[in-house]
Amino acid sequence: RARLASQAAQILRENDRGAYTVPTKGLYPFQWNWDSCLTALGFASFDEDRAWREMETLFAHQWPDGMVPHIVFHQEDEGYFPGPEVWQTERPVPTSGITQPPVAGFAARRIHERSADKAESARRAAALVKKIDRWHAFLYTARDPRREGLVAIIHPWESGRDNAVDWDEPFRRVPHEGIAPYRRRDVEHADPAHRPTKEQYDRYLWLLEHFRHHGWDNELLHDVSPFRVVDPGFNAILIRSCADLAALAEELGMDAIARANRARAEKGLKALERLWSEAHGQYLCLDRTTDALIDSPSVGGLIPLLAAIPEVRARALGSRIEALGARCRFVVPSHDPADPRFDAKRYWRGPAWLIVNYLIADGLVAAGMDRVAEAIRASSLELIEKGGFAEYYDPMTGEPCGGNRFTWTAAMVLEFLN
Ligand code: DGY
Repeated sequence: RARLASQAAQILRENDRGAYTVPTKGLYPFQWNWDSCLTALGFASFDEDRAWREMETLFAHQWPDGMVPHIVFHQEDEGYFPGPEVWQTERPVPTSGITQPPVAGFAARRIHERSADKAESARRAAALVKKIDRWHAFLYTARDPRREGLVAIIHPWESGRDNAVDWDEPFRRVPHEGIAPYRRRDVEHADPAHRPTKEQYDRYLWLLEHFRHHGWDNELLHDVSPFRVVDPGFNAILIRSCADLAALAEELGMDAIARANRARAEKGLKALERLWSEAHGQYLCLDRTTDALIDSPSVGGLIPLLAAIPEVRARALGSRIEALGARCRFVVPSHDPADPRFDAKRYWRGPAWLIVNYLIADGLVAAGMDRVAEAIRASSLELIEKGGFAEYYDPMTGEPCGGNRFTWTAAMVLEFLN
């Protein structure tokens, strides 16, 4: 235990660039949004000041419209594509033009709860609460223009689950002709068989160029995007962050923000019901361009455990995770191994990820399913013991995949040991 914790802390220090951390050397040389917020939780176990700074740095680059970008390009680095010259978002410090799962509200509340110096923590939390509230407001307007209580992502990168099977069907509607020639850099740092395909990259780039052509104007992007998908994972994370932000704001005497976020969480929870699939016993993605559920049993549909979903739903998801556990050696696979589209080593089409395990285990404990949560925790730590701190793992063999000495994996180990 002590050895694992000190190795994990060492990785955080190694990838620390002073005011932000890189997810890993080489493959991801800048600051990523949800990586940072989850990494802050890891820092909080040994350096509270550094934990707050990680999030403060991210939010210093929030857009005037409230969006918090998925990458902040703090320094030049030739080793990543697409870099700032492709995004062209015209920000003082270059950033990408899309967002990522909003875990900030969840992380901020947790860091504050555990803080030793409550007065200092309250001061720093209060400044962040206002910014996180603006991000939530942005998501429930720009990405939910009809005020349904469900926000859409407009690019697979926004889900954090870049090449999930979930996007295969909606991606057929995204063109891929006419994009500028490009050279991928990710496949120079990681095994191409563990990464998204060229066809997927072409479409990632098509969407990027399309949004750039519309001047990154978030009043327009949702409606002009041929890719508009409601991801249960993204929405559940947002709902939980709204609920956590409400609790935190209340404690800090910020009543208007508390009320607004409580209302968002309640509305979101009701709306989430639309994504339930009785046939799969889990939530599914909804294609907003066709208003149909997408037939893809991925881990995105299990993440709602993180939100205060009805007990019957939580129980069903608990059984679903046990069924998945019987189909692989390590939980939780990012896609159901019984589905022919499952791919044990390819990024989000099968591999297990510690951050997802952490979010799901948290929800299971809250729903009183400690035994299932404990199995996830044990599986997570065994993966680390066997394969080191990788980006993700083959759930059949435990083989470490993607980048190594990975920051948020290390942060989650600190959390699991906490
Ligand atoms: C990548 O480049 O692989 C990222 O996941 C996109 O943010």
